[in-house]
Amino acid sequence: MVIVYESKTGFTKKYAEMLANKTGWKLYFVRELPKNMEEDILFLGWIKAGSIQGLKKLRKDKVKAVCATGTARKAEPSEEAVIARNKLEGIPFFYLRGGCLPLKELKGMDKFLLSMFLKMLKGRKDKDEELKEAIHHIEYGFNGVSEEHLQPVMEWIAARK
Ligand SMILES: Cc1cc2nc3c(=O)[nH]c(=O)nc-3n(C[C@H](O)[C@H](O)[C@H](O)COP(=O)(O)O)c2cc1C
Repeated sequence: MVIVYESKTGFTKKYAEMLANKTGWKLYFVRELPKNMEEDILFLGWIKAGSIQGLKKLRKDKVKAVCATGTARKAEPSEEAVIARNKLEGIPFFYLRGGCLPLKELKGMDKFLLSMFLKMLKGRKDKDEELKEAIHHIEYGFNGVSEEHLQPVMEWIAARK
């Protein structure tokens, strides 16, 4: 088994490195994966508008589990929607809380998309604590990476051995 990841701002990479340290499995950035690789893959990617980045670059039959990071406590729009949108039915899926840079540090299309999302969140009436937290994190940045979040993944790994 090898670990393959896609990460733009480094939060998913942190989880991939933690898993590599814990398991001793080889770690590859998705674009650096050797073409003729025949190993099974534990994939980690970040969620962008519901789509798990980097996943499409891999052979589906090789991907044995998928971890996806987002900024919120739960996957946005929902774990079920992310599984369906990325055609992951039947594949073990783990949502991991990642993080985000302050909006002003993002560039290009990512900044534009997140600004639109922020505008939409701010426009909602009746803001609960979770929504206020999300708005604050997008504006000022947040690091939610924690080794504890990997426990379900480690349990899945242990059960396979
Ligand atoms: C343009 C953009 C769109 C995003 N869309 C989603 C989303 O649909 N669902 C979600 O849970 N997180 C979303 N996020 C949050 C990222 O998935 C989160 O910041 C992730 O941990 C970043 O990982 P990285 O540092 O490895 O690139 C989005 C972030 C950006 C910048």
